[in-house]
Amino acid sequence: MKLVPKPPNGNSSKVDTLLSAGDPGFKKPVSRSRTIRIDFRDGFVAPESLMDKFVIRGGNPLVGSVRISGAKNAALPAMAAAILTDEPVILENIPDVRDIQTERNLLVSMGAEVELGYGRASHRTTISCNNLVNPEAAYELVKTMRASTLVLGPLLARMGRARVSQPGGCAIGARPIDLHIKGLERLGASITQEHGYIEASAERLRGGHIIFDKITVTGTEDLMMAATLAEGETIMENCAREPEVTDLAALLTKMGAKIQGAGTHTIRIHGVEKLHGARHRIIPDRIEAGTFVIAAVLTGGDLQLTSCDPTHLGSLIQKLEECGVSITSGTDSMRVTNGHQLQAADITTEEFPGFPTDMQAQYMTLATQSQGTSIITENIFENRFMHAGELARMGANIKVEGSRAIVRGKTPLSSAAVQCSDLRASASLVIAALVADGETIIDRVYHVDRGYERIEEKLKSVGAQIRRIGEILPKRAAAPSVVA
Ligand code: UD1
Repeated sequence: MKLVPKPPNGNSSKVDTLLSAGDPGFKKPVSRSRTIRIDFRDGFVAPESLMDKFVIRGGNPLVGSVRISGAKNAALPAMAAAILTDEPVILENIPDVRDIQTERNLLVSMGAEVELGYGRASHRTTISCNNLVNPEAAYELVKTMRASTLVLGPLLARMGRARVSQPGGCAIGARPIDLHIKGLERLGASITQEHGYIEASAERLRGGHIIFDKITVTGTEDLMMAATLAEGETIMENCAREPEVTDLAALLTKMGAKIQGAGTHTIRIHGVEKLHGARHRIIPDRIEAGTFVIAAVLTGGDLQLTSCDPTHLGSLIQKLEECGVSITSGTDSMRVTNGHQLQAADITTEEFPGFPTDMQAQYMTLATQSQGTSIITENIFENRFMHAGELARMGANIKVEGSRAIVRGKTPLSSAAVQCSDLRASASLVIAALVADGETIIDRVYHVDRGYERIEEKLKSVGAQIRRIGEILPKRAAAPSVVA
């Protein structure tokens, strides 16, 4: 499938993007890719799953094998990197999740051609930015996916200008992008902020020395992309060392960028005149893998994870071993078994290689079932305990004090109607429901869909009882009786 902007007088509609085999009007493609037109002016949010809920009956151990998808957080910057060249960038192992669809639509709205593989190549995306016309990330997109700001650096480097909506606050905290802006200014960009938008321009960026006040993952990625086409050398200090940063550097290097030190605190980039196309395979999703590991542990299962990278999960594995879990790692697989009582252990979220904030909520669910008291300290985001209240509704004993949550285990969990507040919080509720007594209904699962590829199918394939349901309409009220 190829996504291209709709021509001004074209007849195609955004609904086209949703066509798939079996839909009326769908024509079987002859190649391993499909071409589809969308009208980005019609808006971006596909409402079809906004009302979906999960119904989960707890009690089944997860047994079998699950294939881990490509990392959403590596795929998003990789797709943005395609802006840096007029040649096609072919990305393999792109996960089929909502945030990726959003980024595709964003790129198309700028004039990019996005071609999607199908069948065995269904996780391949080819992006051609040889005709970028509109260097803008609209509010409608940025509000649903903050990582849209990743296009700021690449647009500025390639087109000399960018207009990106300011993200504003979100469920897990303020999440400013001041460090992206300061860094781009250090590279010579002029930036103004008006009407909720960041307007940036630069003739050509020039290399500079950037010391991040605070470690930022997408900030490091954004600036690294911008610096690849800047004139001269850029030195960035206090950089994020996440595997997703290293993966992006690997892609940029294949595209002709000169980068040293990715994966360390100091990255040096020697700017080049032009980047070219490349083919790259996205790393496995360490957070999806970690989520399945915790689900297997809690349900007392025996789960094999394939296509994953255990070296990206060191801090989680170490912590789980402290809790009494047995994990065997291969080069691209892991097996987790648990038949023992879990012991409480404290965690503090930190930048990589520390314990990831994106695994904090799932770990909290585990802590509710461990013997003893676990103290969970959230150091990265200011308001990332929204799941605590929902877990408490299921019977957990959790006290939140500022950036600390004190979890007293082990308390039996019982089914309840709960609702997701953000992506990883939703995962913690799904895991809780897998061990709860009875049938849990989880609302707002569109948060899950942002970052987990077909989670219910994967869970079902290893024994979970989980079903996705659409909106349940209230019973129609009886018509008032007419009194003569
Ligand atoms: C990325 C991940 C997200 C993960 C987070 C932390 C993607 C798409 N998302 O988000 O899943 O939870 O890293 O590992 O990769 N900050 C500022 N100013 C800035 C930028 C960040 O103050 O300009 C602060 C943030 O508010 C936060 C901290 O820095 O307190 C870390 O945030 P950051 O690493 O930037 O998170 P994201 O890159 O948005």
